[in-house]
Amino acid sequence: MQSPDIFNPQAQYTSGQMDTAFEAFRSAYPAYDTTTKLDALRATEYGRLDRGGHVYLDYTGGGLYAESQLREHVALLSNEVFGNPHSKNLTSMAMTERVEQVRSSVLKYFNASPDEYIVIFTQNSTGALKLIGESYPFKAGDHYLLTFDNHNSVNGIREYARLKGATVTYIPIVPPDLRVYPSELAQALEQAQPGANNLFAYPAQSNFSGVQHQLEWIERAQARGWDVLLDAASFAPTNRLDLSRWHPDFVDISFYKIFGYPTGTGCLIARKAAFEKLHRPWYAGGTIAFSSVMGDGHYLTPGAAGFEDGTVNYLSLPAVEFGLKYIESIGIDVIHTRVMCLTGWLIKQLLGLRHSNGNPVIQLYGPANTDLRGGTVQVNFFDRDGELIDCNVVEAMANEVRISLRAGCHCNPGAREIALGFTQDDLLPCFSNKDRLTFEQFLATIEGKTTGALRASIGLVTTFEDVYRYMQFAETFVDRKIEKQF
Ligand SMILES: Cc1ncc(COP(=O)(O)O)c(C=O)c1O
Repeated sequence: MQSPDIFNPQAQYTSGQMDTAFEAFRSAYPAYDTTTKLDALRATEYGRLDRGGHVYLDYTGGGLYAESQLREHVALLSNEVFGNPHSKNLTSMAMTERVEQVRSSVLKYFNASPDEYIVIFTQNSTGALKLIGESYPFKAGDHYLLTFDNHNSVNGIREYARLKGATVTYIPIVPPDLRVYPSELAQALEQAQPGANNLFAYPAQSNFSGVQHQLEWIERAQARGWDVLLDAASFAPTNRLDLSRWHPDFVDISFYKIFGYPTGTGCLIARKAAFEKLHRPWYAGGTIAFSSVMGDGHYLTPGAAGFEDGTVNYLSLPAVEFGLKYIESIGIDVIHTRVMCLTGWLIKQLLGLRHSNGNPVIQLYGPANTDLRGGTVQVNFFDRDGELIDCNVVEAMANEVRISLRAGCHCNPGAREIALGFTQDDLLPCFSNKDRLTFEQFLATIEGKTTGALRASIGLVTTFEDVYRYMQFAETFVDRKIEKQF
């Protein structure tokens, strides 16, 4: 356990200082002034943030909803009678029609042609990824290729691949930027076996470092025989994903990350040609056109319905359409511009923080500029003697000044291990005796291996004041000395 010797949660900035900093920021990032409509929305739609004195910097964890999204949803549910879809009664048909309308609005939002793509509703990105894992026709001789930088829900597909005898290969990322070396990518992409099932998965934006891995990889990989799974969960909230320009085979989305509400809805957007390859290992209510106990068989419903197990989250789905329309009314490019201005400023300020002996206060994990990256700023804090301050302690301290950050590995163990300098020798022993460990032995085995980092993620209605307050908080670490407590 670590505890900082002093911390004054009441440390406050003066508004005069902030105004001066804001003016300097505006002249360094003039594009910010094109995004002022978001300040108006912050006041009208997200008043709860400022009423509660919140500095919300966890947009990669979850987006925030506008109040009008809730009102629109409640009005719809208050005025209409909706029944469980997939039947021919009036209220059921009304709901089926609505669900199909939402499906079309998702395609439209991502500029995806209905001739090329279909949308399968899932609970979240993970649900979409699991559908791929269980349905992609891996077999011996096939290949699952993925970047070290991936969310666990993408990593987890390797279990399905291995179970079915496919080869699993990881492409490393390299510090400090935590990107893939072009030569390593080129070499890995050459490994697709002709005639085999080859699946390549990577995140359009890292949820750990904010790195944006290039969308150009999609075409390159496909040209070499790979089906491409693009994890867009942390990219879509602040970037345009134009599926008429880019043609990944599979894309997973969690809607709450884009517009906050509703949770529990996501989708898999699948290219029809690649979708035809998928084979469901089971069937469920809602997925079949006909099944028989005596005949011992079933026919899967063609298209998306065959992949939507049970009853879809039908009352929530209309809120997805409201959310997408809301983002369209602002413009994703406006959101992107604001996020990148604030990210550029924050990174520069954090990197400039020094103890009076010259030691840096933070270490940044990821690119130190705004080229090909998003608004995720991952750091650890160090005391004046260079001792790492536990990110969980820093997160708790931020809570005291109502700043919501996120500490941990962010479900991205590959990026964390490379960022923090872990080696295979450090980690292999954790799993060597896995099935025979008691819980206490397990805890001892992972001791010291769970260190993470502290993530600030900037989003839809982040203001200059939010990032400024984070910097004020960060400055309280200057010349701090931690005492270790055992
Ligand atoms: C890049 C990335 N992929 C996948 C996921 C999984 O999303 P969910 O937990 O909504 O299924 C996340 C969640 O943070 C993510 O950031």
